Amino acid sequence: MKINVLFSPISVDELYFTGKTSVVIDALRATTTIITALENGAKEIIPVGTVEFAVKVSGGMFGLQTLLGGERNTKKIEGFALGNSPLEYSQEVVTGKTVVLYTTNGTKAISKAKFSSKLFICAFSNISALAKHLVLLNQDVEIVCAGRLNNFSMEDSVCAGKLIIEIEKLNLDLILTDSAKASQALSKSFGKNILKMMKDTEHGKLLIENGFEEDLKFCSKLNNSIAIPYLNGQALKLLPDKVETSEPEPDDKTN
Ligand code: MLT
Repeated sequence: MKINVLFSPISVDELYFTGKTSVVIDALRATTTIITALENGAKEIIPVGTVEFAVKVSGGMFGLQTLLGGERNTKKIEGFALGNSPLEYSQEVVTGKTVVLYTTNGTKAISKAKFSSKLFICAFSNISALAKHLVLLNQDVEIVCAGRLNNFSMEDSVCAGKLIIEIEKLNLDLILTDSAKASQALSKSFGKNILKMMKDTEHGKLLIENGFEEDLKFCSKLNNSIAIPYLNGQALKLLPDKVETSEPEPDDKTN
């Protein structure tokens, strides 16, 4: 199993992903928001690359069942129902809804990698669950850090490194590219206290400045979710076997 890390999707074009198994990371905040929304019962998330496309896609959908979400410069876009704070995507708000999501870096990275044969979503919250799934698949993996405005971002790279470390615990037979080894090293140096690391990043500082410090706390939680979102056509959904059912089926006699 070979693992490569792209520190930003800018260095490749869409066709690069054809046939690949990819993992997209935008820890602050898009991929954490996607995991949270699906875990809280959203039917699906449609990630889009432009605000115009978000409006167009949602316009063609059944209004009451669709929510427009996303941000520009971290703030909610005028006319959208939701911003990009994972805390907004509660059960009450998203259950049963399709969310059309636009974010500055995260959903663009997902759109770019859409030709992957398998595309998964990762944040600090689901590293352990995703690592187990990837080891079971046993395919080469391309980890795509959404980065920041086509540049490197520390939080995504540290998250990529933690995912690799977790995979390595389960599969010793890994081939790591230079960027994968670099992510691992960054994770070992900066990933011990994730919240502290996030507070000190460029994007973390901007989020704090704009009043989103609680989001950093939420996004820094490690392995508190078993949700694995994957791209199914145009929409992100949860892998069915990762959905926890809190209530037994009516005909379930085991409880
Ligand atoms: C992005 O996609 O650029 C981020 O999720 C921005 C944000 O923190 O809202």
